Amino acid sequence: MSQIPAASREWHLIRRPQGWPVAEDFALREAPVAAPAPGRILVRNLHMSVDPYMRGRMNDVKSYVPPFRLDHPMDGGAVGEVVASAAEGFEAGDHVLHGLGWREYADVDAAHATKVDASLAPLSAYLGVLGMPGLTAYAGLFEVASFKEGDSVFVSGAAGAVGSLVGQFAKIRGAARVIGSAGSDSKVEMLKDKYGFDAAFNYKNGPVAKQLKEAAPEGIDVYFDNVGGDHLEAAISSLNVHGRATLCGAIAQYNDTEPAPGPRNLALAIGKRLRLQGVLVGDHAALQPQFVEDVAGWLRSGRLVADETVVEGIENATEAFLGMLRGENTGKMIVSFTG
Ligand SMILES: NC(=O)c1ccc[n+]([C@@H]2O[C@H](COP(=O)([O-])OP(=O)(O)OC[C@H]3O[C@@H](n4cnc5c(N)ncnc54)[C@H](OP(=O)(O)O)[C@@H]3O)[C@@H](O)[C@H]2O)c1
Repeated sequence: MSQIPAASREWHLIRRPQGWPVAEDFALREAPVAAPAPGRILVRNLHMSVDPYMRGRMNDVKSYVPPFRLDHPMDGGAVGEVVASAAEGFEAGDHVLHGLGWREYADVDAAHATKVDASLAPLSAYLGVLGMPGLTAYAGLFEVASFKEGDSVFVSGAAGAVGSLVGQFAKIRGAARVIGSAGSDSKVEMLKDKYGFDAAFNYKNGPVAKQLKEAAPEGIDVYFDNVGGDHLEAAISSLNVHGRATLCGAIAQYNDTEPAPGPRNLALAIGKRLRLQGVLVGDHAALQPQFVEDVAGWLRSGRLVADETVVEGIENATEAFLGMLRGENTGKMIVSFTG
C-alpha cells in the first residue's frame, strides 16, 4: 500500500461565477487519501479534460448534468493508473477512463471506470479523439445531421476538439466542400493546410454571414454548430433547401449574464424545410464500437489528425479551462499530471 499517498490536491468551486469565471471562484485544496473500499479503485490521474460544458455546471441551474457543488471537488473526464484495487477485474497498473477529474487521486466506483489500452493510443486520446469529443463529432455529423457524400459542410469552432474532427470526418466521407470558422488567422491557416478544409475564415475579421457567403457561394447542406449566436444565424441564411443543422454547443453564450436573442432569420427554416436538431453525446453510446473502429482506422492510416494542447500540472487546471474558453487551444485541451 506504499503507493497510497497521505493527501491529494483537488479543485473546488467556491463561488458561482458571474459572467467570465475568475481565479477567485476556485480553490486548490488538499484532501486525505484512503485505501479503496470494496468495489472501488484508487486511481492516480494522469490526464484530465477541461470542457466547455463545465462552464454550465458552475451555474446553479437545472440542466442535463447537475451543477458542481460549492466547496466540493469538481469532476469530469480523466484517465489514470490504478494504484490500489478492491474491485474484481481491476488491478494496480491498469489504466482507466472515469469521471473524477480535477484531482490528483480519485476514489472511483469500479462500475464507473472503463479500462483503456495505452498500447493502442496515447492515454490522453481517450479524452479527445477516441473519447467524448470524438463521439460527439461522429454522432453529430453522421447520425444527427444525416451527412451524405457530396454535402457541403460548415463547422464553427473548427479548430477545437469537436470541430477539427467534424471537418476531417466530412472530408474523409466524401464531402463536396468543408468550410470552417475559427478565432485567429493562424487557426484558419491550420484548418486549410493541416486538416484539409476547402475554405476557412476568422470570425473576428468581419461579419460571419458575409464571410460564410464568400466561402460557400453555392450554400451549405450541413451546419455543425459549436458556437450559436451570429454563427447560427449566418448558417440559417446559407443553408440550402432541406439543409440540416446539428446544434452541438453555443459557446459564444456560455458566459452571458442575460439570455441571448435567438436567430433573427429563423423563419427561413420554413421555406427551406430546414432541420435543426440538438445532439447530446450521451444518447449515442450505441455508436461507440463503430466509432472506435472507424476513427482508429483513420488515425492509423494517417488520414485523420488529432491535435492536443497540453497544459502541465494540476495547479494550472483552472487556467487551462479558462484558456480553452478564450480559444488558446488547438484540438483538445488536456491537463496532464505526468511531469
Ligand atoms: N452536445 C454535446 O453532447 C457536446 C459534447 C461535447 C462538446 N459540445 C460542445 O461543442 C463545442 C466544442 O467543444 P470542444 O470540447 O470541442 O471545445 P473546443 O472547441 O476544443 O474549445 C472551445 C473553443 O471555442 C472557441 N470559442 C470560444 N469563445 C467563442 C466565441 N465567442 N465564438 C466562437 N468561438 C468561440 C475557441 O476557439 P476560437 O479560437 O476559434 O474562438 C475555443 O478554442 C462546445 O460548444 C461544447 O459545449 C457539446
